[in-house]
Amino acid sequence: MGREIATVGVVGLGTMGAGIAEVLARNGLRVHAVEVDDAALNRGRAHVAHSTRRAIAKGKLTAEDAAALLDRIQYNTVDLADLAAADFVIEAIPERLELKRELFKRLDGICSDETIFATNTSSLSVTEISVATSRPSRVVGLHFFNPAPVMKLVEVVRTVVTDPGVLADVEALAERLGKSPVTIGDKAGFIANALLFGYLNHAASLYEAKYATREDIDAAMRLGCGLPMGPLALIDLIGLDTAYEILDTMYKQSRTGCTPRRRSSSR
Ligand code: CAA
Repeated sequence: MGREIATVGVVGLGTMGAGIAEVLARNGLRVHAVEVDDAALNRGRAHVAHSTRRAIAKGKLTAEDAAALLDRIQYNTVDLADLAAADFVIEAIPERLELKRELFKRLDGICSDETIFATNTSSLSVTEISVATSRPSRVVGLHFFNPAPVMKLVEVVRTVVTDPGVLADVEALAERLGKSPVTIGDKAGFIANALLFGYLNHAASLYEAKYATREDIDAAMRLGCGLPMGPLALIDLIGLDTAYEILDTMYKQSRTGCTPRRRSSSR
């Protein structure tokens, strides 16, 4: 029988973290949201408030349910100690391995031994993050997609030491959030980014080589392949910095896929 996850910590309230906090609170979980300072905390709060107002305007959420959702998120802290009682903590801080390792090392000393840790990393090694703690078997990847309240997919990333019970609890949590989880081993880019980013990188190369305009590249994939947005618009949604970091990590881990073009050896 899995452990009941009722109280959740979210560390990092950028676009992804704020979206994740909203999804968790919308589905009845109590959320402790943590950021590095009050300004970042307030930006996260504004992001969730904007998104819930939009949901009310679209008739997807009643004003009453929105108020209850907002009430379930506690923002009044920049202190990790407030996560001591969390059953589950997910981080969505910047994509730097040393930052994530340091965060989980600190959380390891604060949270109960039973607490499950999840990283929303897009491509870093969950294994390398997990071994910064004394509980690698209770650390998983839980990778949401942007915009988190809309996209149905979450990738649940298991390492070779992930406890099967923990995996089952996290898959059940994802379903409770109305998401469709897929489970994958710890490989850079997991499933979706491993496939998506070669395509996005190629679109950027086409544009750079002036084969076609930005509008026509995007139109080709929207109208010819039925995608909701073209690759260059999608890179903008993801953010150039994030896209670069993901490609760089995937390249460093595999040395394949998105390698720079080789020069012809013939002279
Ligand atoms: N927050 C909450 N809801 C949002 C939203 C946001 N940021 N953006 C859009 N929505 C909602 C809208 O309210 C709308 O809801 P209804 O249909 O109920 O009215 C719905 O999404 C569609 O939005 P719009 O009508 O405004 O616009 P659209 O039809 O063009 O859809 C989109 C916008 C959902 C972003 C769509 O274009 C899309 O699915 N694009 C592809 C996104 C994608 O591929 N994401 C994955 C990126 S890769 C990634 O995230 C992984 C990584 O590690 C980087």
